[in-house]
Amino acid sequence: LNNGLALTPQMGWNSWNFFACHITEDLIRETADALVSTGLADLGYVYVNIDDCWSAATRNLEGQLVPDPKTFPSGIKALVDYVHGKGLKLGIYGDAGAFTCQVRPGSLFHETDDAQLFASWGVDYLKYDNCFNLGIDPKKRYPPMRDALNATGRTIFYSLCEWGVDDPALWARGVGNSWRTTDDINDTWASMTTIADINNKWASYAGPGGWNDPDMLEVGNGGMTYQEYRAHFSIWALMKAPLLIGCDVRNMTAETFEILSNKEVISVNQDSLGVQGRIVQVAGEANCQQVWAGPLCGNRLAVALWNRCSKAATITAKWEALGLESSTHVAVRDLWQYKDVVGNVVASFGAEVESHDCHMYIFTPKTAAHSEI
Ligand code: DGJ
Repeated sequence: LNNGLALTPQMGWNSWNFFACHITEDLIRETADALVSTGLADLGYVYVNIDDCWSAATRNLEGQLVPDPKTFPSGIKALVDYVHGKGLKLGIYGDAGAFTCQVRPGSLFHETDDAQLFASWGVDYLKYDNCFNLGIDPKKRYPPMRDALNATGRTIFYSLCEWGVDDPALWARGVGNSWRTTDDINDTWASMTTIADINNKWASYAGPGGWNDPDMLEVGNGGMTYQEYRAHFSIWALMKAPLLIGCDVRNMTAETFEILSNKEVISVNQDSLGVQGRIVQVAGEANCQQVWAGPLCGNRLAVALWNRCSKAATITAKWEALGLESSTHVAVRDLWQYKDVVGNVVASFGAEVESHDCHMYIFTPKTAAHSEI
């Protein structure tokens, strides 16, 4: 969507994956505090997004949405002011149907009123879900909220949560700033890998202004190993997915923080070229030895060696799979070891990767003038 936002994928936090409906205004404030105090905000995680369950069960007599008086007694405007005061942005949630998935009032046919209300609160982001949609075509239900948001005069990030049902990559670029390509993620290796593969199919539709959304991060929620979470984060970054943290940032382990705060992996996600990386080479049983890659600005490449096999394996990326001339000399930086591992390599690059782990690199091709041959 051409509203000036999403030139790179959105980064922040969302309440759903860890807290589901157990959300309060205190939680949102404490999360904003933690994003700042941990340094995650400085790394780019600026959206604090409230998911489903912030709203009361019914609209008020004027037909407006109202925050749940028990859990958000001070209202959303006060929360927005608090979050803005920390230099962050606030996201809210709505539904392009009669009800949200947790049966709060939906915004279908209330687009103008609800967009005006969100804008009057100073909201910066809307995640717009797909429950109770009355069987109406999403191409009819999502644009009215885009137009209503636009008419408020406030610039609001518009995140379509249509679950990939009607192939949104094919039509959503002019509608929203990101579109979910899949069903909900859960905190398992099986879910994460399945979702990565589905999102990969739509790679060519992503770009500045609108991104494929394979759903929010599960890093830190406990259902995967350190290696699996590192793979999850690496591949989401490389796929130019929104980096929306889904754990309790007030109580992160050192390992969780280490993964989420990897500046070099984040820089791949936020690269100005905005091209979604994809699977470029597979080998091994059930194609479990994978190379994912994509171009970065400055003629560089992001390359991930992802071992989805049950045993350690040596994965070797071949230049032809990466779209490099076989004679090109490349400098290789390892983004998880934070070091330059090879100054000059040609034709292929391989490494031993543990089961379910993912190595991530930036390849910088050397021009003849700079080559050290
Ligand atoms: C379905 C969405 O896909 C989830 O991300 C979450 O927003 C829930 N609905 C909330 O009910």
